[in-house]
Amino acid sequence: MDLFRTKRLSVRPFKLEDGSDCEEFLSDPEVMKYIGDGNFDFSITSAQKMVQWFIQSSDSAGEIGTWAIVSLSDKKVIGNCHLSVCNAVDKVEFGLSLSKKYWRQGLGTELCEGLLQYGRKTIGYDAVGITHSENVASKRLLKRLNFKFDRELELYGVAQELYVRS
Ligand SMILES: CC(C)(COP(=O)(O)OP(=O)(O)OC[C@H]1O[C@@H](n2cnc3c(N)ncnc32)[C@H](O)[C@@H]1OP(=O)(O)O)[C@@H](O)C(=O)NCCC(=O)NCCS
Repeated sequence: MDLFRTKRLSVRPFKLEDGSDCEEFLSDPEVMKYIGDGNFDFSITSAQKMVQWFIQSSDSAGEIGTWAIVSLSDKKVIGNCHLSVCNAVDKVEFGLSLSKKYWRQGLGTELCEGLLQYGRKTIGYDAVGITHSENVASKRLLKRLNFKFDRELELYGVAQELYVRS
């Protein structure tokens, strides 16, 4: 069942069989460059393992988790998005990754507006954005969503920036 829908996308819990769709973006170094510490090593097997981890780390209430982004026109998983607790700032943060061929079509903006609205209903406030300081696309996306720079912080040994919307 969908957690929410936007005009072109739906967001739902992952299923084990999503592994093959996910390979396309989880194994792409350009997509994964700024995720975590930026040193993930994804092979076909580990895309499957990541999907298992996405499922295990998502709560059944649909408040905190990593979920599949499905293209309504292509009917396949084209990315993942999450709401997760960031202990360093004691807030829920949001994030997403999209397969490269779907970049720069306004899908990131569309997805985040839906995800933030969904989060407002479940956690009661706008989740915060945390991005590697060097991630230009992510920073432009946050700006477009009216997020404001709050402060620098170090996470996973990487210089990052915290953005908030009030
Ligand atoms: C970040 C990401 C989700 C953006 O998705 P998208 O669908 O391309 O974003 P949109 O089309 O809605 O564009 C949002 C803004 O980002 C800008 N942008 C998108 N890709 C960009 C890029 N590669 N370089 C510079 N700016 C970029 C757009 O121009 C737009 O800004 P503008 O309104 O000032 O023109 C996508 O690039 C991605 O999946 N990256 C890899 C994973 C990642 O880094 N996730 C963020 C982790 S916090």
